[in-house]
Amino acid sequence: MSGETILYVDDVRAGYSIGRRFIDAVSGVTLKLFYGEIFGLAGESGCGKSTLLRIIYGYIEPPLRRVKGSIILRSKTEEFRLHELSMDELKGRVWWRYITWIPQGAMNVLNPTIRVRDHFIEMFRLHSNIDKREAHKITVEYLEALGLSREVVDAYPTQLSGGMRQRVVIALALLFNPILVLADEPTSALDVVTQRVLLEQLLKLQEKFNFTLVLVSHDMDVHGVLTNRIGIMYAGKIVEVGPTGKVFAEPLHPYTKALIAALPRLGDRITRKGLSGSPPDLSNPPPGCRFHPRCPYAMDVCRREEPPIVDIEKNRVVSCWLYVKR
Ligand SMILES: Nc1ncnc2c1ncn2[C@@H]1O[C@H](COP(=O)(O)OP(=O)(O)OP(=O)(O)O)[C@@H](O)[C@H]1O
Ligand SMILES: [Mg+2]
Repeated sequence: MSGETILYVDDVRAGYSIGRRFIDAVSGVTLKLFYGEIFGLAGESGCGKSTLLRIIYGYIEPPLRRVKGSIILRSKTEEFRLHELSMDELKGRVWWRYITWIPQGAMNVLNPTIRVRDHFIEMFRLHSNIDKREAHKITVEYLEALGLSREVVDAYPTQLSGGMRQRVVIALALLFNPILVLADEPTSALDVVTQRVLLEQLLKLQEKFNFTLVLVSHDMDVHGVLTNRIGIMYAGKIVEVGPTGKVFAEPLHPYTKALIAALPRLGDRITRKGLSGSPPDLSNPPPGCRFHPRCPYAMDVCRREEPPIVDIEKNRVVSCWLYVKR
């Protein structure tokens, strides 16, 4: 099935309504995800990565709202028009079994007064009808695949380290073989060594079960090592999408170029300079291309008009006036 589309995100706009202000955090995002791929989402803090994931999952509570756009999930046998389903419908039909979400800071979502075992028992009770013994067996299998010993089931979350809690959350998220996993900075709160081990374990599980993984990280190294394709977000927009190797070797969008140029290289004696300036206020973004105030290549048109999405080659798009043939 690889190469076939599992998720269609079409012209989605969403943001936060705070008083009279609207924070335009996801602004006209169009994206396709393929079966079994690892898709990375990168971009500076506040560019809308978490909001986009939340909107795809459908966990939408005020002040967040979706203004327009469609999100369609296609399994091998069924199609879900996610944007038309209420949270109750999503909970009953789609979440955990088809699509699952590991929110940012997920290790803190476990209930501290409930043993790890009971988190799993509750999940099985809600979403399956297998007996307790079978449930225990599956629980231990998942925990062990993530490097946890079986004794962890008896612990309370507060007795576990951050890395262990994060593993428990990941195990819970994968329990019912979802076809799409949305992982928002799944390792960023952890120390470097734990991060690497956990990412490797997650990768192994992805290979085994072949779910589509969306991996949000602001760490470009993580993307370079793990992801098949990458989408670069800037100020609520996806400005470039392509196979990760190609984007790293030949970034197209000036923002992507700056991100890649800022990466340290082997043998560097100096620290590389990042982008100057800061991202715009999303409740009052600049006209035209949102990146133009920081862009070394900005032209007149960039200040006036939003750039279109330009197809460069198969699976490679960029949203920038430099690539519009005129
Ligand atoms: N609950 C909220 N209420 C109001 N504004 C919010 C809320 N959550 C996020 N925002 C704003 O929406 C924009 C996008 O935020 P989001 O959390 O999606 O960014 P992000 O790319 O995930 O950042 P980070 O890398 O720091 O996690 C930011 O301007 C942020 O301040
Ligand atoms: Mg975030």
